[in-house]
Amino acid sequence: MTQTRYSEWWRRSTVYQVYPKSFKDTTGNGTGDIKGLTEKLDYLQELGIDIVWLQPVYVSPQYDNGYDVADYEAINPDFGTMEDFDELVQELHRRGMKLMTDIVVNHTSVEHEWFKQASSGKDNPYRDYYIWKDPGPDGGLPNNWQSKFGGPAWQFDEASGQYFLTLYDKTQADLNWENEKVRRAVNDMMLFWAKKGVDGFRMDVINVISKDQRFPDDDGSVPPGDGRKFYTDGPRVHEFIKAMYDEVFGPYEMVTVGEMSSTTLEHCIRYSSPEEREFSMTFNFHHLKVDYPNGQKWELMPYDFEAMKRLFTQWQTGMQQGGGWNALFFNNHDQPRAISRFTDDKAYRVESAKLLATTLHGMQGTPYVYQGEEIGMPNPIWKGIEEFRDIESLNMYRILQEQGKNPGTAQSILQERSRDNSRTPMQWDDSPNAGFTTGTPWIKVDERYPDINVQKELADPGSILHHYRRLIALRKEHDVFVEGSFIRLDEAHPEVFAYARQAEGAALVVVSNFSGKEITFRFGDKQWAELGERSGQQLLIGNTAEAPVLAQELPLSPYASYMWLIRK
Ligand code: NOJ
Repeated sequence: MTQTRYSEWWRRSTVYQVYPKSFKDTTGNGTGDIKGLTEKLDYLQELGIDIVWLQPVYVSPQYDNGYDVADYEAINPDFGTMEDFDELVQELHRRGMKLMTDIVVNHTSVEHEWFKQASSGKDNPYRDYYIWKDPGPDGGLPNNWQSKFGGPAWQFDEASGQYFLTLYDKTQADLNWENEKVRRAVNDMMLFWAKKGVDGFRMDVINVISKDQRFPDDDGSVPPGDGRKFYTDGPRVHEFIKAMYDEVFGPYEMVTVGEMSSTTLEHCIRYSSPEEREFSMTFNFHHLKVDYPNGQKWELMPYDFEAMKRLFTQWQTGMQQGGGWNALFFNNHDQPRAISRFTDDKAYRVESAKLLATTLHGMQGTPYVYQGEEIGMPNPIWKGIEEFRDIESLNMYRILQEQGKNPGTAQSILQERSRDNSRTPMQWDDSPNAGFTTGTPWIKVDERYPDINVQKELADPGSILHHYRRLIALRKEHDVFVEGSFIRLDEAHPEVFAYARQAEGAALVVVSNFSGKEITFRFGDKQWAELGERSGQQLLIGNTAEAPVLAQELPLSPYASYMWLIRK
């Protein structure tokens, strides 16, 4: 392991993810805005955040909350103006912080000018910006690919008698990356933002941009059989990303993260190894699919703890061996809140939130904190279907009933799985609407906000928020967070996740009890011996009143979690 391998600044950084629609509203229109984020930069700076990832604020009809872009170079008036954006960049830079924006280029909204042109006739020069196909031999769909949001992946265009591809919502038309003009236009757009001072990009579902040009039917031999094997990590994807690097990311020294849908370790190593000149790091979702029976998101099952630990271990060791870099996360705007999903968000809400944070932040990679996570926001309690806003959830509510589920069952599945679980407004204080807006919020505020809010967390030195602050600071203090190898230590224990990170001169040991039980955890003799000399140990952070010494036998209270540093 050489110094240069890990010398980039963002390996020590922590990213904060902002869902602007639900962060802070300064106008009273019920929707968060850019000024609201600028107002809260001191809060983020005090938390220790280095990079803010701002989700899409471009002009968009908002069917998919901004991931349906109608104009890549203009700000949606609901979020403010270009001046507000410039001010945000300035204010971040003044504080030594960086801005990462969201780039959504697998698809555009059908309201984008390119699509309007493309759908105006087969001879229009923009026609080839999208993926058009004639009906299949039976006069129906061109193939059997399914949309990620439910239903077929093709939409019929009456005027031309052709179908266009939509892997997400029917209003999100997939761009044709085979067309050199599309690639040129995307790079120009990214250069526009780079020149404005944006420091990095989060690239939306970027590993699905290159489709198998034969567009074959999926024979279902590899689950889920919805066509994804023909476009996931597709034939030309690395070539396309390298071209972005050469023209944009490299020259502007950007920090970039690619969101990778249903990807593999091998591809993520390639996407994120510095020598490959593609991205800085990747998001993958395997560790979050551990409660999907047979990969089915819309069926419930208790999560498979052992699978989660195995996946973390595979990705920790695999990415390190291959020279890749993980984006570390449990939460984002597409996932239900992790404390509700994997731990106890009621009796042990505070312990649970700290346990998840310690377990994640001890790993190798760049941690992401999704708004509200740092104050332990759980899934809201949904009272009725009319409270949901997300297009995927509403589609699935209908589809689940078409499949024979009754409305009550369909809603209880949404309660667990809906993306709206993480999209309710940020809870700032105990004033009406949690201090998010003076108007009517676009989506309901969780009623527990008088107890769970930033103001309360700031005032309590033992709070979840202060725990995050310490973890973020620790990563900067100790090289072992960045450099250490990953060794799993719990031998398939049913309740405990334990691992070490070993580097020259230091090791980290993390032990977390993912259960509501009082237990005693015993390190196996082999693992205990592997840890070597332990005399220079120090408890870096924990979530109980005790400060236990690292010993082979450890009594652990419910959801107890500790991190020790051993200096060698
Ligand atoms: C992934 C984004 O995170 C999600 O919110 C969005 O719906 C899809 N990509 C489609 O853009």
